[in-house]
Amino acid sequence: MSNWIDVAAEADLFEGAGIAVTPCGHDIALFSVEGQVFATDNQCTHGPAKLCDGFIEGTEIECPFHQGRFDLRTGAATLEPASKPIKVWPVKVEAGRVLLDLG
Ligand code: FES
Repeated sequence: MSNWIDVAAEADLFEGAGIAVTPCGHDIALFSVEGQVFATDNQCTHGPAKLCDGFIEGTEIECPFHQGRFDLRTGAATLEPASKPIKVWPVKVEAGRVLLDLG
């Protein structure tokens, strides 16, 4: 079941930086990479860091605490000490708005 929720304006996103949104109590980070928008859980699976404060390297997000990395496309942990994947959320942009499918 789809449950598309409007969470932000596309204009709120900037290349290379993340923002946090909290639709329906979910803590989610949005990232813009070369014009494509990605949405992941904001909480790092390794510790109490927010990935919206991390650093984008290609299509990976580097955690600001211990430099663990996750693939923004799949959520896979790609560099230790991160080892557990993060959840990625379906995202689409329509008429300048960013929508997430919260299921
Ligand atoms: Fe994210 Fe440790 S808290 S890598």
